[in-house]
Amino acid sequence: MKKILIVDDNSDLCEVLSDMLTDAGYQVKSLHCGANVLKEARKNPPDIVLLDVGLPDIDGRKVLEELKKNDNGPMVIMLTASGDIKTVVGSMKMGAFDYVIKPFLNEELLMVIEKALENRDLKDEMNYLRSELAKTSSDKMIGTSSVFQQMLKKIRTIAQTNMTVVIHGESGVGKELVADMIHRESPRSGKPYIPVDCGAIPENLVESELFGHKKGAFTGASADRKGKFEQAHGGTLFLDEVTNLPLATQAKLLRVLEDQKVWCLGGNKAVEVDVRIIVATNIDIATAVKHKTFRDDLFHRLNEFNILVPPLREREEDIALIANHFVKKANEELNKNVKGITSEAFKRILEYRWPGNIRELKNVIKMATLSTESDHITASDLPLSILEHQADHKNAEGLNPEMSLEDLVSNLEMKLIRNALSRAGGNKVKAAALLRLDRKSLYRKMDKLGIS
Ligand SMILES: Nc1ncnc2c1ncn2[C@@H]1O[C@H](COP(=O)(O)OP(=O)(O)O)[C@@H](O)[C@H]1O
Ligand SMILES: [Mg+2]
Repeated sequence: MKKILIVDDNSDLCEVLSDMLTDAGYQVKSLHCGANVLKEARKNPPDIVLLDVGLPDIDGRKVLEELKKNDNGPMVIMLTASGDIKTVVGSMKMGAFDYVIKPFLNEELLMVIEKALENRDLKDEMNYLRSELAKTSSDKMIGTSSVFQQMLKKIRTIAQTNMTVVIHGESGVGKELVADMIHRESPRSGKPYIPVDCGAIPENLVESELFGHKKGAFTGASADRKGKFEQAHGGTLFLDEVTNLPLATQAKLLRVLEDQKVWCLGGNKAVEVDVRIIVATNIDIATAVKHKTFRDDLFHRLNEFNILVPPLREREEDIALIANHFVKKANEELNKNVKGITSEAFKRILEYRWPGNIRELKNVIKMATLSTESDHITASDLPLSILEHQADHKNAEGLNPEMSLEDLVSNLEMKLIRNALSRAGGNKVKAAALLRLDRKSLYRKMDKLGIS
């Protein structure tokens, strides 16, 4: 049964309306002042609120404003005496659905109520469709290896919270898909998901992009513009390649996260935002902190939870699955009918290190599908880079000769520890044993290197 809340100081009117609406099949409750409306609406959410503009205690518009803060809140119909049309127009602008002028006919009110309810159903349906669409249009993540499955489990758990998540992993491992999945599996899935590539925005525009600006805030700001934070209100903001943010912007970002308010450029009022933050990086943030290119305090604020997306070469089991998936996709895209990959070609694929991870695999398979003249991808369809790389041992890391000795050692230690942790399924005692370290030394090293 649909619920209607009547708010009017005229108790006779309330009584008459209440009887009429009950007869019409609604569940009705009335209040004579504005003070308890919000409490009542929270306790027992109505579908419709009939709201008197001229309440004795609070301006009806104030109540409306509060009710409209909740996106799933009730449809509000204003009740007004004929004099205050201006107020009514103002209320409509603030999100009231419609108004009726006292004295009104029962039929007139019933019609407006019905229209409002229809509208509300439509809105619900649209939200539902939007979230379903988001589910189907995004790429699915594939993998059966235990490291991958463990990661999925972590994602599903963390998705239910509002915690800030740091996703790290090499380039091309699927960090964007992970961020996207956290949002889709979260209670915020019906709300906006706004990804921002922090590496792709010119430094002088990054703050206006994130926090918005007012017209005239700087040369070229020809109109007000909402920032990504405001766009993501109620939902999730994904800051990809977050270590690319300039230090000054990092300081502002920290302030926004602490205050949950944004100040747009040239604005004189902070806007409250409710946004869940996910960030991703392919470089180690702890190292960036050490090199003073990333703020220590921001790192700690962001690092409430972290997810390491393992490189493809550590997920051998998944390679076949993902490669075959890409063959299918490439067939569709290129209008081909390649049946699969020969075992010879597959052996080469398994032996390769995949420094560009899944993104590289996807490109290689697409090219091979395009160029093959047989009904299977053969070794000769693979690019030279893969065939020539066979001499390298696939676990030999390409180290940057410009690194200092200290960084080289940290880098190696980090890799060894991550590798041991992943082989030990995240169990630190086992990982310590694999590394022939005692548990305390492992903790100390992990702490120093910023691995959690
Ligand atoms: N588990 C997976 N299964 C299938 N495709 C994947 C998977 N992970 C990543 N991809 C694909 O690999 C490519 C790179 O992923 P992306 O999220 O952009 O990587 P990153 O952000 O870590 O560089 C994308 O085309 C993505 O769709
Ligand atoms: Mg990326």
